[in-house]
Amino acid sequence: MFYKIAQKVMFQMDPERAHKLAIRSLSATSNSPLACLYRQQIAPAPVNFMGLTFPNPVGLAAGLDKDGEAIDAFQAMGFGHVEVGTVTPRPQPGNELPRLFRLKPAQAIINRMGFNNKGVDNLVKNLIAKKSGILVGVNIGKNKDTPVETGKDDYLICMDKVYPYASYITVNISSPNTPGLRSLQYGDLLDDLLSAIKVKQAELAAKHGRYVPVALKIAPDLTPDEIDNIAESLLKNKFDGAIATNTTLTRDGVSGLENANESGGLSGKPLAELSTKVIRQLAKALQGQIPIMGVGGINSAADALAKFDAGASMVQIYSGFIYHGPELIKEIVAAYRAK
Ligand SMILES: Cc1cc2nc3c(=O)[nH]c(=O)nc-3n(C[C@H](O)[C@H](O)[C@H](O)COP(=O)(O)O)c2cc1C
Repeated sequence: MFYKIAQKVMFQMDPERAHKLAIRSLSATSNSPLACLYRQQIAPAPVNFMGLTFPNPVGLAAGLDKDGEAIDAFQAMGFGHVEVGTVTPRPQPGNELPRLFRLKPAQAIINRMGFNNKGVDNLVKNLIAKKSGILVGVNIGKNKDTPVETGKDDYLICMDKVYPYASYITVNISSPNTPGLRSLQYGDLLDDLLSAIKVKQAELAAKHGRYVPVALKIAPDLTPDEIDNIAESLLKNKFDGAIATNTTLTRDGVSGLENANESGGLSGKPLAELSTKVIRQLAKALQGQIPIMGVGGINSAADALAKFDAGASMVQIYSGFIYHGPELIKEIVAAYRAK
């Protein structure tokens, strides 16, 4: 009920202003009595994923709380985990405004934010300050002005800094809004990056006495061969998990709608089938050896069940959460428990 009212107000505002206001309000209220406005009890539905036990299979996808400012509020809503980031070594402003667009009739979003974030040191401060014990994944990326050829160094810098505070780490090479980033999904660049991450993980696990799993987040805009190649590299490098998918460059299902021609990544309902298809193909190629987090266009419990059916062990939501609010978490967990 509260979300319906809040959404009415926010949907009258410019999307990025509404987003900033929401994060600020959640951050300010999460540890106050006002958190009762969005707190909800979710029935337990524990899931083992990458060696961690999550209280339920529904997480908040990366990009909504890039700087980890409202983690406690998302736990109050009942999320089983929160993925913060994408964070880069240095703070960066992201692309020019406007860069975030609603496509309401399609329950979709187009964004070309471009990894706007306050930098990894600021995120670490927020991770230390959070009060709740919710599992937090940290999604890491490279700065826009770091060349792709040396992009690996940015991932290693972020990994070094967030490792002690992360439940798991996501290597994001699938955002369409950082020029050249998606080229890291192919061939030698991919193999080189994944093996460097695993070497770093072993070094940090020894240093901190704790193994933090690493996952790779991939795009939906990949051919079956490309998905097979990624799977091969994940298996070869013994990655802990895969997250599929990020936003798409396709515009299927939105043509003719206001904002449909804006450049950037499309998320929400029109992405659902494409992302499920990628999950199914990836699951086949990984042969159950590496678990998958399914994300992309989940707007209902049925959409989430389709992801589980395709081979995902857990799911994350972003656009569906904007359109349906915290109630969607409850619906998905109930359907998961009943399946
Ligand atoms: C405004 C916006 C910003 C996003 N930022 C990031 C990001 O920084 N890193 C990332 O890995 N994914 C990012 N994503 C992608 C989401 O995490 C998710 O993979 C994608 O939106 C598909 O899920 P959905 O259909 O439930 O939104 C962003 C999505 C949106 C809508």
